[in-house]
This record gives sequence, structure tokens and C-alpha cells, in this order.
Amino acid sequence: MKPAYTKLNHDHLQFFTALLGESNVLVNEEEKQKYGRDYTEDFLFVPEVVLLPQNASEISEILKYCNNQRVAVTPRGAGTGLSGGALPLYGGVVLSTEKLNHILAIDEDNFQVTTEPGVINDELRRAVEAKGLFYPPDPASKGSCFIGGNLAENSGGPKAVKYGVTKDYVLNLEVVLPNGEIMWTGANVLKNSTGYNLTQLLVGSEGTLGVITKVVLKLLGKPKTDLLMMASFGDLVSPCVAVSRLLNAGITPSALEYMERNAVEWSMRYADVSLELENDMQSILLIELDGNDGEILMRECEQIYEILEANKCLNVLLADTAAEKERLWKVRRICGEAVHAHSVYKEEDTVVPRFQLPVLLQKVKEIGAKYGFESVCYGHAGDGNLHVNILKGELDDEAWNHTVKHGIREIFETCHQLGGTISGEHGIGLVQKEYLDVVFNSAQIQLMKGIKQVFDPHGILNPGKIFPD
Ligand code: MLT
Ligand code: ZN
Repeated sequence: MKPAYTKLNHDHLQFFTALLGESNVLVNEEEKQKYGRDYTEDFLFVPEVVLLPQNASEISEILKYCNNQRVAVTPRGAGTGLSGGALPLYGGVVLSTEKLNHILAIDEDNFQVTTEPGVINDELRRAVEAKGLFYPPDPASKGSCFIGGNLAENSGGPKAVKYGVTKDYVLNLEVVLPNGEIMWTGANVLKNSTGYNLTQLLVGSEGTLGVITKVVLKLLGKPKTDLLMMASFGDLVSPCVAVSRLLNAGITPSALEYMERNAVEWSMRYADVSLELENDMQSILLIELDGNDGEILMRECEQIYEILEANKCLNVLLADTAAEKERLWKVRRICGEAVHAHSVYKEEDTVVPRFQLPVLLQKVKEIGAKYGFESVCYGHAGDGNLHVNILKGELDDEAWNHTVKHGIREIFETCHQLGGTISGEHGIGLVQKEYLDVVFNSAQIQLMKGIKQVFDPHGILNPGKIFPD
């Protein structure tokens, strides 16, 4: 049964306008439509109003009011999410964090940055790099996604194989709870063994427990140099085998990215980048090394050549200029957009222990053949995280809306059997929630619902996400 939320009326809008000013209360249909989408498939859920608060205390007032009035509130970052986390399923308020967009302090002594959630990932990276510091998490959408969205979904990105994901950099959060209370979750320290870890509970909670208004992130020293190679292979699975061999040899690349041929070709076309591809190339691996000593990296590079050669690699290209590296990265980063521009699609963010990746890849193709769908795969081979894009192609609506879902369930069951799970870095949000039972039993789901109930007893915050209906 759908929860009953209060529909907004003139009085509600007047309250918001008095609090935020007219320009921060969007009621125009066109604007509301814009905030009714994110990057997930072609969903549209139009909110009743979009609010643009500028600080934690305004957010506190909004949440307190909506909690009392039982109005649904959907927090939103840049809207680049791929699981539908920012879609306002029940209308109500979209609470955008775009005006909380300041980097508040870079602490060079302690290697920390304090920022608001509406700062773009790449802007934060550049600001800390100017001081010789390094914030590694770099989702494909780093040029537009917000730090707050990265926190909500615990985003990863290519550098995760060496440096970990967003959660590994979060020290402390200022958060507004649904009842309007503003609190810090932890402390600005590298070690913390004090009570339950509220900070990590909030990370990856997809905007369902509280609204993050400030974050303290850990930083590293910036590596001085890097190398990038593109290795091509004549089949689909050999790159994934090579990845395990390479890591087992004691080499830790800063990226190990996989793309199958269609993904490379469609991205090249979409990004207007031309690369020479062998006729029999079926897949590629991008291998990045970083560090402070170029000679050490070159020696590792030679070792990598040998491992690749022993694992059915057709050819290796070493990008020798910054422009060449940029071209290769562009092709990889634009993959999602290129596939999505090519066909109606559903994207699954599968993840398995990385040694199982060749098995998963083969099973994905077998399941596709069984249910009659084509897929294009790319992703973070070093993390066992494969983005499986299922294409509608010539399928009719009945097959697309029903039969394909059985196939998706089978893919997720395979992930679970291999020791993996159903989302590595995109979150459950709207599109994965009907599969949550593949990996969690009812006792586990009840435990999570209990946590939600403690934070948000009236269920006003980001309703309709994570939990199956
Ligand atoms: C990526 O790795 O390219 C991102 O997660 C985006 C996507 O999967 O489409
Ligand atoms: Zn990814």
C-alpha cells in the first residue's frame, strides 16, 4: 500500500517562501520536471516544489515542518545517480543541496578538507591538488556529481582498486535528521572507536536517514606521476583473468578498467575520439599506475607487459602524453552516456570477488542468450565491479518489462552465489529494490527497516527507496 503523504497547498508554499525567499522555491512546471529526473533510465517523477536552501539551519526548518506535516522530502545532489535515488516518487519536496556549494577549509597539517555537500567532486579534487593533496574517489561523472551524492551512494570510480571508495575518506559528518535536529556524527580523527559508527551508517544510506550538510574528508599526498596503458584482447574474459594475475604479482595499479568492444566503439563515436582498434579486438583493459618515482613505474610497466602477453593480450599501447591519456580516459568515462544514448537500457551494478569476474561475465552473456537480451559490459575489473547494461534493442514492451527482469534476477543470484552482491557503487535506490531479497533475508531487511524507523519514524525522507514495496 502506498504511504499517504500530505499534498502541498498554498499555506505550505507560503511557509517555504517566507523561510527561503521566492527565488529559492521553484514551482514552475519546467523547472520541476528538471528535478524530476536523474541519470537513471528515463524515469520522471515530478515534485510539487523544489527547495534550494543555503545552510543547515534552513534545512532543519524544512525537515521539522515537513515531518510535522507528513510531507515527503527527497534530498538531491547533482542528479547524476544511476539507481534513481534522487527521484521524488511521491511528489512532495525535492530538497536540492546545490546552494551548499562551498569548500569550507583545507587543513594542510592534518590532510583534511571540510566541505559542503553541493561541491562538485572534480572541483574539490582540484582545490586540494593545488595544495599538493589528493582526494582519490573519482566516479565517472566526477565533472558534475556532488560530494553529497557520492556520500549518499558511497560512490566508487576507477581509483577504488588502489585507494578505496568514498566511505574510506569520510571522517565526520554534519547531518540534519528528519525531526530537524542538527548533529555531528563523529570526530575529525583518523582513528575512532567510540560507540556505534554513525558516520559510516550515514554514508551509503541514500538520503533515507538524514540530510548531510557538512563533511570532513581525509586526504592523501598527491602522487607525482602516472602511466596509462591500453591492452586489447581477442576475447571477453581474458582481461579479467589478467587482472587477477597482475594483482597477485604484487602490482597495485591505480586503475584497472574493463570495456567490451561495443562499449569502446560507442564511446569513441559519442566522444568523437578515434582510437586504432585491432579487427579481432573483443575487449580492452585500461591500466593506470601512479606513484612518485617514474623509473619504478616503468619497471612495473615492463612486468605488466609480460603478464599481459602470457594472458592472451593482442596489443598494448602506452599513452605517452597527457593528451593521449585524456583521450583514453574520455572514452572510458563517457561509456555510460554513450550506451544510454544508443538504446533504451537497464544498468546493473554487479560486483563479485574479483577472481570470480570471468565467471560472472560468462554467466551474464549466457543469461542474456537464455532470456533474449543483449548486454554491453564495462567497469572496474580490479574491484570485480561490472556494469552490465542490458539493451532493449528489438525487444517488445512485454519482454522488456517482465521477461528481462527474470534475467536480471538470475544475474543477481549468480553474483550472490559467487560471493558478491547487487550494487557495488550505484546504490539500491528505486531500480534495484525489487531484488534486495536476493542478497538479504527478511530478518536482515527488518533490521535495516528498524534503523530507518529510529531515524525517520514518519518515513518522510526519500520514501520508496532501498526497501522492496
Ligand atoms: C562508470 O563506471 O562508468 C560509472 O559507474 C557510470 C556507469 O556505470 O554508467
Ligand atoms: Zn562505475
